[in-house]
Amino acid sequence: MTVRDICSIGHPALRTPAAAVPPAEIGSPRVQRIVDDLIDTMRHADGAGLAANQIGETARIVVIEVNGNPRYPYKPPIPLTVAINPELEVVGDETVVINEGCLSVPLRGDVVRWVDLRVRYLDRHGAEHRVEPRGLTAGTWQHECDHLDGVLITDRADPATLATWEEFERHHRDAFIERISKFVELVGS
Ligand code: NI
Repeated sequence: MTVRDICSIGHPALRTPAAAVPPAEIGSPRVQRIVDDLIDTMRHADGAGLAANQIGETARIVVIEVNGNPRYPYKPPIPLTVAINPELEVVGDETVVINEGCLSVPLRGDVVRWVDLRVRYLDRHGAEHRVEPRGLTAGTWQHECDHLDGVLITDRADPATLATWEEFERHHRDAFIERISKFVELVGS
């Protein structure tokens, strides 16, 4: 396992739609190495998730894990999840504005996300899973799956809300945490 360099906005891999992983190749050394490197790199950078595009691999693989994350202390825990060829289906029409950051973008900004999803994916052993994430966890799934389509938070964010981490923490963090904590309490994730 290796901590890889994370591509920053401007790197072509972040704008390249990732290719589906043929199920027969999930067990291959190449795919298993990408999975291992994604987990290591995500944990090393304190990310809540990481998509393969962000380490320069345009394959449809994301990893997600939240466990007392220092970058996003308000996010409810998510066990380590390796998702290959994830497919998101929106349930209902409820949305929430989430202030998001990204390891590939030196800014945070307000993004509108769907509150309820159905997600189908294959794990690193090729087994199919179905989950129904809600709230901030659903937001994390949408953020990571956007990466697989070459979409970044700067594309979705209200431009007037873009802020460096330093200015976010100085001027916006407290109000956001207060609002989003109530939301998390309400939807349970
Ligand atoms: Ni990101």
